[in-house]
Amino acid sequence: GEMSGGCPFHHDGGTRSLLGRTNRDWWPDQLNLEILTQQGKSADPMDEDFNYAEAFNTIDYKALKDDLTALMTDSQEWWPADYGHYGPFFIRMAWHAAGTYRTGDGRGGSSSGQQRFAPLNSWPDNGNLDKARRLLWPIKQKYGTQISWADLFILTGNVAIESMGGPVFGFGGGRADVYEPETVYWGTEEQWVDQGVETRIIPDEGKALENPLAAIQMGLIYVNPEGPGGNPDPLLSARDMRETFARMAMNDEETVALTAGGHAFGKAHGAHPADTFGGAPESEDLHLQGFGWLNDKDEIASGNITTSGIEGAWTPNPTQWGGDYFRLLFKYDYELVKSPAGAQQWQPINPDEEDMAPDARDPSKKVPTMMTTADMALKMDPDYRKISERFRDDQAALDDAFARAWFKLCHRDMGPKVRYLGPEVPEETLIWMDPVPAGSTPSDSAVADFKSKVLDSGLTVSELVKAAWASASTFRNSDNRGGANGARVRLEPQKNWAANDPEELSNVLGKLDELRGDLSMADAIVLAGAAAIESAAKNGGYDVNVDVTTGRGDATDEHTDAESFEPLEPFADGFRNYLKTKAGVKTEDMLIDKAHLLGLSIPEMVALVGGMRVLGANSGNSKLGVFTDRVGTLSNDFFTNLLTMENEWHPVEGTQEEEYTGHNRETGDETYRASRVDLVIGSNSQLRAIAEVFAEKGGDKKFVDTFIRAWTKVMDADRFDIEYAKYHN
Ligand code: HEM
Repeated sequence: GEMSGGCPFHHDGGTRSLLGRTNRDWWPDQLNLEILTQQGKSADPMDEDFNYAEAFNTIDYKALKDDLTALMTDSQEWWPADYGHYGPFFIRMAWHAAGTYRTGDGRGGSSSGQQRFAPLNSWPDNGNLDKARRLLWPIKQKYGTQISWADLFILTGNVAIESMGGPVFGFGGGRADVYEPETVYWGTEEQWVDQGVETRIIPDEGKALENPLAAIQMGLIYVNPEGPGGNPDPLLSARDMRETFARMAMNDEETVALTAGGHAFGKAHGAHPADTFGGAPESEDLHLQGFGWLNDKDEIASGNITTSGIEGAWTPNPTQWGGDYFRLLFKYDYELVKSPAGAQQWQPINPDEEDMAPDARDPSKKVPTMMTTADMALKMDPDYRKISERFRDDQAALDDAFARAWFKLCHRDMGPKVRYLGPEVPEETLIWMDPVPAGSTPSDSAVADFKSKVLDSGLTVSELVKAAWASASTFRNSDNRGGANGARVRLEPQKNWAANDPEELSNVLGKLDELRGDLSMADAIVLAGAAAIESAAKNGGYDVNVDVTTGRGDATDEHTDAESFEPLEPFADGFRNYLKTKAGVKTEDMLIDKAHLLGLSIPEMVALVGGMRVLGANSGNSKLGVFTDRVGTLSNDFFTNLLTMENEWHPVEGTQEEEYTGHNRETGDETYRASRVDLVIGSNSQLRAIAEVFAEKGGDKKFVDTFIRAWTKVMDADRFDIEYAKYHN
C-alpha cells in the first residue's frame, strides 16, 4: 500500500501517527468484520445507555480481590504456575498491557483492553500472555460487566504484587473495554522483531526513534532484552531503554525502579529452541481457539516453556518481593552465556548455593539465576548505576519508587484523577495527573455581562475563536490529557507554541483577564469564543446559542509539569491550517489524526474546518482556505466557493504541494488560496459528499448547527469533572 515502500519516515520532530502496518497487512487471511461496522453500526454489544463507571461502582471489590488472590496459586494443568504462583506471569501481562502507552500521541496503554485484539495479542513480546488472559476468564465471567478486561488486567497485576509481599500505591478503576482493535500507528516495518529487522535507533547513522513510536523494534513493548538487535551490549541497551522509557513518560529513576522491581519476580522462559512452536494467536488454526505459540501439551507438562528464549529467574526468591535483584546484580560478576533456546543472557560467576534459584517445577532442584542485557544496563550505565546502588542500600526507597512508578505506568493514560474509581484510589494527587483546581459556577448574569463586555472590547471574532481553540484543542482522547480546563494555554509551554500565535494570544488573554471579574480564565476563554461565534452567526442571519458549561478551574505553574506538555504541541492542526513540520504522512492525514484525538465524526470535522476558515481562525492569520469576502461572519461560504465550478486550482510551485491557488476558470484571475486540508474536502469523494450537504439548499443551517455542535464538543471534551462527579460520593 501507499505506506510501505522504503522511504524514511523520520522528519525532524514531525509525528507520524497514522496506519503503517495494519492488521490486514500482517494477517491477510484474517476474517473481515469491517463490512459489519459500516454505516454507523457498532461492534460494541453493550446497550447504548450502558455506563461502565456505574457498573464498576456496584462491584464487590473485596470479593473480586479475594478471588484474584486465590487464582494466583490455583495452578491449572493446561498451563502450570511456575513455583506454584501465577503472580509474576500476571505482572508481566499487566506491564505489557500498560506499556504500549506513548506520550507522543497518547495512544496505546491499558485503558481499553487492547491486549485482547490484534496486533497486540500476537506481538512477539506478548508471547504466551494469551494463557494469562485465559486464566482470568472465570473471574471475568463471574463479575461480568462490573469489571472490564482493561481494569482486570491492571488490578490483577496489583493483586499479584501484593500477594507476593510487594508494595503498591493504589488502583483506580474505570477503563471501559472496546470491542474492536484500535487503529494505532505501530510502525512501517514488514517484519517482527524476531525476524531480524533492523532496530529503530542507530545514532551513528543519524537514525533516531521516529515519533510517536516508543519501542525499538516492531512487536516489542520497549527494548530487545538481548540488547539492540541482539547485540549483548549493556551500554547500548541503556541508551535504548532511556529513549523508549522516556517515550512512556518515565525518567531514569522510574525506569530502574520498574525494571528491577518487576524482575524481582518470576522468570524468563527459554527452555527449548522455539522453532517447533506454532504461530501467534491471530494466525493460528481455528481449533486452537485463540491460543498461539506453545500449544503442545507434553512440552507444557514437562516445563519446556519458551517465551522470550531467555531462561532463568533473576533472584533466588522469584515469588517474594525483596532486595535480591540488586544484591545479586552487584554481588557477582556476570558472564555472557547462551540459554538452551540460544538467547544471549548473563549468568553470575560462581554463585553461592543460597543465591541459586529453585527450578520452576521442582523446588528441590537449584538452577543458576540470570540477568538480561537490559538488566545489566542497570549496573553498567553510570547514571542507572547510581540509582541502582541507592536502591540496593535503601529498600524503603526502592519500595516507594517502584510502587509509584508502577501506579503511574498503569494509570498514565486514564487522564484526570476524577476518572479513577473504586476504594483504592490514592489520596495523593500527582503532578503527572495534570491536576486542575476545582472551579465554581458563575451566575447567568455574570456570564451575560462578561460576554457583552467581550463583544464591546474591540477583540475580533478571529482573535476570540483562535484563543478558545488554542485552549481546548490540545485535548486528546487517547490519554485524556489537554483541553480547556485549567487554562494552561496561558502557561509554559503552550503560551509560546507557534501554532498559538503567542503575541496575539497574550494580548487577547490579557484583555480577557481584565474583563473576567470572578470568572476563571478557563471559563472566560471558552465563553469569549462562544460570544464571538454567536455574534458571527448573527451577522450571517442565524440566531443561535453556543452553550457553555462553566465551572472550569485555573491551573498554575505549580500544577503543571511543563515539559510533559511538550508532546501535546501540534505539528499540524488542519483546523487552523497550521503546519509546523511536514510529517511522513500527508498533511490531510494529520487532520484526520487530530479529529480522531478530538473524538469528532466526519461531518463534525468538515464543519469545523469550513467554519474556522470563514471565522478567520488560521494560525498566522494566513488567508489559506478563507473562501469568503466576509471574514468573521459564520456562513457556508467555504463550501459553496470550494464546490463551484467557476474555480480551478493549481499547486503553488516550491510549496511541496502544500499550497494552491484558485483561478477563475474564464478570466484566469486568482480567486482564493488553499492548503491541502482545504482542498481535500473537495477532492476526497466522501468529504466532498459532506461539503455538498453543507452547500446545498437548506444546508447552510445544517452547517451552522453541526459547526456549533462540534465546537462545543471540543470545548467540553475534558469536562470529566462534570461527567464523573456522580461516581464519587
Ligand atoms: C519477564 C524483559 C521491564 C516485569 C521478562 C522476560 C523478559 C523481560 C525477556 C522473560 C519473558 C519470558 O520469557 O517469559 C524486560 C525488559 C524490560 C523489562 C527488556 C525493560 C527494559 C519490565 C518491567 C516489569 C517487568 C518494567 C514490571 C514492572 C516482568 C516480570 C516477568 C518478566 C514480572 C516474569 C514473568 C514470568 O515469570 O512469567 N521481562 N522486562 N519487566 N518481566 Fe520484564
